Amino acid sequence: MKNKKMLLPIEKVNPGMKTAEVVFNKLGNVMLWDGVALDSITIERLKNIGIEEISVHVEDPREKEIKYDYDSPQLFAAEYEQDANSTRQVFQSISSGRRLDIQATDEIVDSVLRKSESNRNIIDSITQVRSIDEYTYYHSLNVSMLCMIIGKWLRLDEYHVRNLTQAGLLHDIGKTRIPLEILNKPDKLTDAEFEEMKRHSEYGYNIVKNSDDIPPEVAKAILTHHEKEDGSGYPIGLTEDKLNLYSKVITVADIFDAMTANRTYKSKDTPFKVFELMQHGSFGILDPIVLNAFLNNVTTYYIGASVLLNTGETGIVVFMNKQNLSRPVVQVGDRYIDTSVSKFVRIKEFI
Ligand SMILES: [Fe+2]
Ligand SMILES: [Fe+2]
Repeated sequence: MKNKKMLLPIEKVNPGMKTAEVVFNKLGNVMLWDGVALDSITIERLKNIGIEEISVHVEDPREKEIKYDYDSPQLFAAEYEQDANSTRQVFQSISSGRRLDIQATDEIVDSVLRKSESNRNIIDSITQVRSIDEYTYYHSLNVSMLCMIIGKWLRLDEYHVRNLTQAGLLHDIGKTRIPLEILNKPDKLTDAEFEEMKRHSEYGYNIVKNSDDIPPEVAKAILTHHEKEDGSGYPIGLTEDKLNLYSKVITVADIFDAMTANRTYKSKDTPFKVFELMQHGSFGILDPIVLNAFLNNVTTYYIGASVLLNTGETGIVVFMNKQNLSRPVVQVGDRYIDTSVSKFVRIKEFI
């Protein structure tokens, strides 16, 4: 596919085009990196904060492929539910003693990979509330989607992005061997129950290790997805030099999905809080390169979002503070409020 790079007025920019250069806001801060697929919400937000023109890649219309319109949230949501359902079937089939259905697994991986330009839909669907007994299926699918987009942000090639998507989908497959009364227990687990729960990494490894269709690095990532950089994880206590990249990516995706799921019940300012916790509370746990690739890119999806402040005013997020991601700069009318400086002002919710 041939692409032309063009500087276009924002009114002429259409969903599906990709940024050809970094987009800066009027304060000189990065709004979007180059190579970002634009969707209608992002384009609207760029207009709202006064961006007049941007440089984009434009496809030559003679070579345009017929593509699925994943910019549509409805279409995305329908496929997402279907993929979650297929994930449930793959997991339940293993619970009932059958081998891993590799064909069904590949179909889900293909479906996730087709959504590789739908980052906003992926990020939105991850923050939805799920029932506890369905949690593992949605979580597995979410981690798979997050692994895919982090792989792309790390600029890995297609082979590795596919493996990562598969590893993310199967990382908790060992939970099919954990008794349901432990898996779905709403209260805190006892020490013995927690020890059993921790064995899901080994159980998962045992399910996939002899399959010719699962690359050995994927199997290893399933075994080591709860290891930590400083060696304090399980089941082995490996340190960062012994962990493969897939495992490091899964850990970041896993923590983000688990944190947003837990916190969705409590408040709507979830993502900012989660970013802060990941940024400041993960030293020694998460790989800094993977974490930075994730945070630097994912936070741009919140620039231009409308928010309600605790002062009762409404505003638009115009800049994420890299040092303090939970406290961005918000534009209220013609004022800029840096919530990292004005400590008493905070974001109450998205509107
Ligand atoms: Fe896990
Ligand atoms: Fe997990």
